[in-house]
Amino acid sequence: MVRWRAGPRGGKVKTAKTSTKTLQPCVKYVREEEGAEVSRRSAPGLAARAVACFFAAGWGPDWGAVAEGAFIRFKAFRTPHFLETPSAMSTSTVTMQPDTRIALVTGADRGCGLEFCKQLAGLGFLVVGTAKDAVNAQELNELAKESQNKVFVQQMDQTKEDEIKNLAEALRARNYRLDLLILNAGVAEHDHPHAPPSKLERRELAELLDVNVCGTASVVKHMLPLVQESQEKKVVGVTSKMGSMEEAMGDKPYLSAGYRVSKAAENMLLRVWARDPTAQDVTFLLLHPGHLKTAMGEAGGREAPLTCEEGVKQSLEKVVLRCGRQESGQFFNYDGSELPF
Ligand SMILES: NC(=O)c1ccc[n+]([C@@H]2O[C@H](COP(=O)([O-])OP(=O)(O)OC[C@H]3O[C@@H](n4cnc5c(N)ncnc54)[C@H](OP(=O)(O)O)[C@@H]3O)[C@@H](O)[C@H]2O)c1
Repeated sequence: MVRWRAGPRGGKVKTAKTSTKTLQPCVKYVREEEGAEVSRRSAPGLAARAVACFFAAGWGPDWGAVAEGAFIRFKAFRTPHFLETPSAMSTSTVTMQPDTRIALVTGADRGCGLEFCKQLAGLGFLVVGTAKDAVNAQELNELAKESQNKVFVQQMDQTKEDEIKNLAEALRARNYRLDLLILNAGVAEHDHPHAPPSKLERRELAELLDVNVCGTASVVKHMLPLVQESQEKKVVGVTSKMGSMEEAMGDKPYLSAGYRVSKAAENMLLRVWARDPTAQDVTFLLLHPGHLKTAMGEAGGREAPLTCEEGVKQSLEKVVLRCGRQESGQFFNYDGSELPF
């Protein structure tokens, strides 16, 4: 039987309606059976949880399940398509066949990441799209709403180790295995791609490295056990040919040093993972998705030649779904050709 008990007061959570910077006190409830913690803040949310707790504690397992199911539906009504409690899978309408392939895409609220979610769902994957501000990830939430339980939204700012770890634990509690982990989240300089190396500030470089390298490293570290328990076992780093040393050997000036450094480091990180003795069952692929019409791709007044739809379609067909263990550690262009490091 499921029981909830109130934990220590005074945790902090982001509010749903105000800016992501606003923090409000909350009560933490601890699910005793599975040891997982969730945070609630609103009065209606607390009331619903109290009802669930009351029924679960005193009125037998059937009433407890009914009350908890009602709470989950209430939560889904408020913020649709969030999988919140570890039992959400069993009480929601999600059906997972043993051969359902699951993909997790980071930075999925817009651009290339959103397109990966759309196309992977179309290919039959169950998709978990993560966003650094999931509540306000409007397009991703709409996609999830229309997807008939093929796409789910989860909170994950990859500069926050605890968010990454919590998500990995929550996925494990629901028996999710990750057939495909798409490491898409990324940032570039504020004046990308025109930033000369002389203008590179230490602070901005640190921020780029924090998201693109440290964040990616943490996501791989915490999600890898779930990948290793899946059928397909693939990790795809959406890096960039701007991170290629060899591509930067011509005689023209090369700008965006910070972004280039971070993408070169991301390439090396995944190359090292591909040779790690503990991960020899996993395929690590490094992908340049093409120069795409996204906020990043068209930053600085550029016009990108490829739509996200086309770049992602080709990337999936010619790299992600085609390549296997023998290609692990290699760096590919979206059209399937190999790129130099
Ligand atoms: N577009 C291109 O031409 C191109 C070419 C080569 C490689 N790439 C790579 O492709 C990937 C996607 O790029 P894009 O063009 O789609 O860029 P984009 O439109 O700028 O999207 C970047 C995504 O990363 C997310 N993100 C940023 N910081 C994050 C953090 N701390 N935690 C979690 N997510 C975070 C953003 O979330 P918010 O919306 O919350 O900021 C957004 O979803 C990037 O890794 C990029 O380097 C793009």
